[in-house]
Amino acid sequence: PTEERIDLLMKQMTIEEKVGQMNQYNGFWEVTGPAPKGGNAEVKYEHLRKGWVGSMLNVRGVKEVRAVQKIAVEETRLGIPLIIGFDVIHGYKTLSPIPLAESASWDMEAIKKSAQIAADEASAVGINWTFAPMIDIYRDARWGRVMEGAGEDPYLGSKIAIARVKGFQGETKADLLKVNTIAACAKHFAAYGFAEAGRDYNTVDISNSTLYNTVLPPFKAATDAGIRTFMNSFNILNGVPATGSSFLQRDILKGNWKFDGFVVTDWGSIREMIVHGYAKDGAEASERAVNAGSDMDMESSLYVAELVKLVQEGKVKETLIDDAVRRILRVKFELGLFDDPYKYCDEKREKAIVGSKANNDGVLDMAKKSIVLLKNDKNLLPLKKSGQKIALIGALANDKNSPLGSWRIAADDNTAVSVLEGMQQYKGNQLTFEKGADLTIGKTSFTNEVVLNTTDKSGFEAAKKVAANADVVVMVLGEVGFQTGEGRSRSNLDLPGLQQELLEEIYKVNPNIVLVLNNGRPLALPWAAKNIPTIVEAWHLGTQAGNAVAQVLYGDYNPSGKLPMSFPRNVGQCPIYYNNYSTGRPGNSDTNVFWSHYTDVEKTPQFPFGFGLSYTTFDYKNLKINKTAFAKGEPVTVSVEVTNSGNYDGKEVVQLYIHDEFGSLARPVKELKGFELIELKKGETKTVSFTLTDKELGFYNNDGNYLVEPGTFKIMVGGSSDKGLESGFELK
Ligand code: IFM
Repeated sequence: PTEERIDLLMKQMTIEEKVGQMNQYNGFWEVTGPAPKGGNAEVKYEHLRKGWVGSMLNVRGVKEVRAVQKIAVEETRLGIPLIIGFDVIHGYKTLSPIPLAESASWDMEAIKKSAQIAADEASAVGINWTFAPMIDIYRDARWGRVMEGAGEDPYLGSKIAIARVKGFQGETKADLLKVNTIAACAKHFAAYGFAEAGRDYNTVDISNSTLYNTVLPPFKAATDAGIRTFMNSFNILNGVPATGSSFLQRDILKGNWKFDGFVVTDWGSIREMIVHGYAKDGAEASERAVNAGSDMDMESSLYVAELVKLVQEGKVKETLIDDAVRRILRVKFELGLFDDPYKYCDEKREKAIVGSKANNDGVLDMAKKSIVLLKNDKNLLPLKKSGQKIALIGALANDKNSPLGSWRIAADDNTAVSVLEGMQQYKGNQLTFEKGADLTIGKTSFTNEVVLNTTDKSGFEAAKKVAANADVVVMVLGEVGFQTGEGRSRSNLDLPGLQQELLEEIYKVNPNIVLVLNNGRPLALPWAAKNIPTIVEAWHLGTQAGNAVAQVLYGDYNPSGKLPMSFPRNVGQCPIYYNNYSTGRPGNSDTNVFWSHYTDVEKTPQFPFGFGLSYTTFDYKNLKINKTAFAKGEPVTVSVEVTNSGNYDGKEVVQLYIHDEFGSLARPVKELKGFELIELKKGETKTVSFTLTDKELGFYNNDGNYLVEPGTFKIMVGGSSDKGLESGFELK
């Protein structure tokens, strides 16, 4: 009946009203205040009242959403409700860890739950559509947006994409009718994560093989999981801006993958096609975007200005407009907006849900699961619970803002639990805090550049004094929350400001340092990796950050995170990723220099993809494959025994990698094709089994066709991408 209801409605719509559905405006006035007078805001307001706006973004709060929805529903001729979008990236007000951090949990249930919490809060303030998950794959930590995705691997990225889609939308389409789910958006289609040199918005120039095997799989997985919307990307692909790419949007997404939701452009990206040099003016940009399959114009104000005329001139077929409008209306129907446009506008629910205890408990759980123990050489961790003098050093230790991370438009400033506050919950030790040095100067916000303190070391001496007097020094160093995210590329991956100097100065007076990293991207910290005995990757962990860190430091939670992205030794190694190709000269069999390497640094990462320690240890043995040779299509069963051989109960992510040794195209040296998160009591052993089928053993050729080729495969199973037990089989 949805399609019939759409038919009926579309029959009544004028071409202007149809184009109106394809127009999305940013919240442009204080919606509960007086109507805007004059300028662009008045024009937009008039468009809203005429039914020329199909969606708004960045309007939030029950009162506010009700106010704009009322105009759409009660003042326009057909009363079509708006779909209200917002960047609910890692929560609304109660924040989960940044998505990259969550991905380090490798825990699909937890990640799904985290998206559910985000949907719960967002839907309670009137929002019904999130511009998430970002499922771009990327390999360059200089890119600020690495914080927003699932890391470098398409297999893990696809699983996480599915978890997040289901978390936001529910298990089935019918769940969208519930009041606590929202439509999700797969972004950015496609290849935005491959911006050259990690500089945001930069040119993308990738091979077909990378496109089909690395970039597209998470988008396909999200489509198959029922995601309702897509957002295209700012970049060009083979010279065509993604917004104008028929190949991506019509051929692949709506053609091959049969996606029946709608595509929204990224902010102003139709207009940016002029700047790219792909369209001479707004009319041509609109023509190209709509013909290519961009259904909704985010903030270019071009569809609303140009499309009716383009249809009248015959440059755009009305059937294409109809197709776009049908898709947009379909999602609105699926959300139940036609049955009750005020469905998400319930003050009582808003009050009960936003910031609730249950949501705080949920994000705390996610935060603990996201922490990765990178080094614990002297077993400084877990900390003893009493009788110790602990020096806590670093401005970030007392920072209630940075743990909120980037992309958190609705969260109030300074609402995270700091590490200092978290550690103060443990009263048995003597805890002394000194910041050492400010990290930044002035206020940092979502839109302004971070200004670092590079001169004021006046706090160094006080920090050294407490460090010298302590049994253990906990140093919290890294990046402020807004040092990552959109528009936040860096050309260095070191500790910003004076932090490296502070670290080395403290080390001189007390080397018993637990370095807790707060950052939104992999950092390159060769000195720390060599000298500091204990390193904990604690990312930007959201509202409950400090509690999560303290519980891990004190051993009330045994860390189990594994890196979703390689950590380089220095920035010059970027892009660096585990699933690289062999090259013709991977190793130095001779003593000469003519092999693929650097002369000044090893070519391996500092900390590889999939790596992460625990307070306990895990032993792998008895790797078995059920046969040595298989017919195509026959499932391959791999099993391994994992024993908790240490002194704590713990969790381990058992990872399976394959290597297709020879093919019609060169294949990566390793590819993740299975993983399982297991929990083992100390002394306990479990057998973990994986099944490999054609879905895992094949690859896309350069025309985008999926091939499963006979040949030999190596497999590796272990707790990290760099080592494990090895075996192999043949596919006949
Ligand atoms: O959703 C975002 C997108 O990821 C980047 N540009 C702006 C959009 C809306 O805020």
